[in-house]
Amino acid sequence: MTRTPLIAGNWKMHKTVDQAEQFVQGLLPRVSTADGVDVALCVPFTALAAMVDSTRGSRVEVYAQNMHWAEQGAYTGEVSAAMLVELDVHGVVLGHSERREHFGETDRALAVKVPAALASGLKVILCVGETEGERERGDTQRKLRYQIQEGLERVPTEQLGEIVIAYEPIWAIGTGLVATVEQAQDAVAFCRALVADRSSEQAERTRILYGGSMKPDNAAELLAEPDVDGGLIGGASLDPETFSAIVSAAA
Ligand code: 13P
Repeated sequence: MTRTPLIAGNWKMHKTVDQAEQFVQGLLPRVSTADGVDVALCVPFTALAAMVDSTRGSRVEVYAQNMHWAEQGAYTGEVSAAMLVELDVHGVVLGHSERREHFGETDRALAVKVPAALASGLKVILCVGETEGERERGDTQRKLRYQIQEGLERVPTEQLGEIVIAYEPIWAIGTGLVATVEQAQDAVAFCRALVADRSSEQAERTRILYGGSMKPDNAAELLAEPDVDGGLIGGASLDPETFSAIVSAAA
């Protein structure tokens, strides 16, 4: 089974609409000929509509960085799946460690958000990963098991292969510390084994990304690992040149 690699840029809270437009004008010509790789940009809510318009007809898909699980309701400041679908947004990143750490995102909530997004036709990138302390204590697998089992609990088995999982060791996010290729491969293969506990057939379809200080100079070796199906890129996704260099490394 060959899985098409996915390179997704997570802008986090960066770029006004104007800055996003400038980025995309720089990016599109650079990635137009990259074959055999899917490309996504996960952008702030305020830039979604403009980015959907500016990337229409290109290979670049546009994702949101969060959503609420309910169809509508008294949830001030939140955005529903239907609101994203209305804008032609392709997907959503759920459970990023920054949302877990700073905004109280829980595995319980994700167990509801993930199937709600899928049911609305949105693609999902579910983020998981351990802290430095958890790795040092030998708790990496326990953390991943908990996050993946709970996050995917209510996803119908036949849809597991549509999910993208991003393994992002928290100690590698924004720190310049990148996991070794062995650490990345081991953790990503473990994530796949957890999906295989539900369905080995679906686990072969599930794309599992690595994230955490991925840059043009380390992307190729990480992406060469057999279970690493792409990258979720933070800092290096803010510049069209560095982001497209990572796309080329995956192509
Ligand atoms: P960096 O690439 O800046 O380490 O961020 C990774 C990340 O959190 C992507 O979601």
